[in-house]
Parts: sequence; C-alpha cells; structure tokens
Amino acid sequence: MRQHVNPLSKNFKEIERIPSLMEMFVDPKLNLHLDIGCAAGKFLFDLALLNTSWNYLGIEIREKLVQTAKVKVQEKEIKNLYFVFGNAHNILNDVQSKTFIENIRSISFNFPDPWFKKRHYKRRVIQPEFINILSYSLKKGSLIFIKTDVKDLFEYMDYTISSNSNFKTIDKKDFNYSESFNPNKLKTNREKYVIVNQLDIFERIYQKV
Ligand SMILES: C[S@@+](CC[C@H](N)C(=O)[O-])C[C@H]1O[C@@H](n2cnc3c(N)ncnc32)[C@H](O)[C@@H]1O
Repeated sequence: MRQHVNPLSKNFKEIERIPSLMEMFVDPKLNLHLDIGCAAGKFLFDLALLNTSWNYLGIEIREKLVQTAKVKVQEKEIKNLYFVFGNAHNILNDVQSKTFIENIRSISFNFPDPWFKKRHYKRRVIQPEFINILSYSLKKGSLIFIKTDVKDLFEYMDYTISSNSNFKTIDKKDFNYSESFNPNKLKTNREKYVIVNQLDIFERIYQKV
C-alpha cells in the first residue's frame, strides 16, 4: 500500500460526490463531524461506536483504504459513519457539497502528511484557498481541530488558518471536550505512535466567527 499519494495528480480530478445526509446516515439530524485524511478510519470507527449522538464522515485519498472501510461499516451495521474517497479539496470545492458543509459542526485534520520539501508545500492538505472555501461555507460557531507532531507543519497550518479573519483561535483550557465530537479524547493511530515514541504534539482549535 502506498503511504503517500500526490493529491495534485490528475488521477484525483474525478471526485466521489458526497451523498445527501439522508443517504449517508440513519439520523441525518445528528451533529456532524468530518475527519480529513482519515486513513483506514480506525479513529472514526472508535468514535462512531462510542458516540451514537454524532454522525461521522471520513475523507481519504487512498482508495483501497476507503473501500475496505466502507465494507466494514456495512458488516458492522454502523449507522452513523460514512467514508468518501478522494482529494478533500476537490470534494469540498464541488458545488453540490455546499449544503453538506453547512451541516458540519466540526472538522479535524489529524497528523496530515507533512510534505517537508518547500516545493511540495502545495501538496499539503491545508491551503489558503481551501480554508477560504471553508470560511464562507461553514456555519458560524463550527470548529476546526488541527494536530501534528511536525512543528514546521503546525506553524504553516496555524498561519494559514489564523490569516483568515473568519476564524478565531480557541484556548484549549477553555474548551469543553465533553460536548465535542470526541468527548472521550480518543486518539488516532498516528497520535498513539507519537505518544509511545514521546514525540511532541502541536494542536490548536479554531472557531468560525
Ligand atoms: C499521516 S496520515 C494520518 C492518518 C490519521 N489521520 C491519523 O492521525 O492516524 C495522513 C492521511 O491523509 C491522507 N491525505 C493526504 N492528503 C489528502 C487529501 N488532499 N485529501 C484526503 N486525504 C488526504 C493520506 O492519504 C493519509 O492517509
């Protein structure tokens, strides 16, 4: 399985459209959380099974991982979890995604690919244009969570989001996790690895104003 795919490759121009909320979830009125770059979706399976009052959607650019996750959702008959394959930029930039974005309560970017070389920065998932799309489509009060173990990437993501005047930073110590998409502070696969290896974690929360 390839670990890194180039999101700018023409293979990802075609997108899987996000179905209507009714098609994805048994109860479309529940709070909706979107995890971008969810890999095999282990974190989302854990969340969905524990927090049945939320709906969870994962977007992932590695197609095989999404195919396997979709089969697992069906086998386990999970009613509040859905996966979509493709480049998150193209999927959320699609006009038909507009209504979907309005329903999102929160989005997480957990340990995105760092793309260390400067000439590859444009492959990073957080880009000013992408944040701009989110800034005018998300409802006021919606949250964005970022987390990484790469300081340089954190500074880049933080600068990109903070430069958009539609988002303000929320102080972590004032944040009530129990009402969030992740009340039990479950960890992603990468986060577990980072903790075991005693690496730093850089994280921030932003709110649409
Ligand atoms: C380092 S992994 C982190 C996986 C997981 N979030 C975690 O914390 O364990 C980053 C994931 O983002 C996916 N990804 C990268 N760019 C993407 C994009 N533009 N759209 C959707 N997924 C993307 C990669 O394929 C990879 O699975």
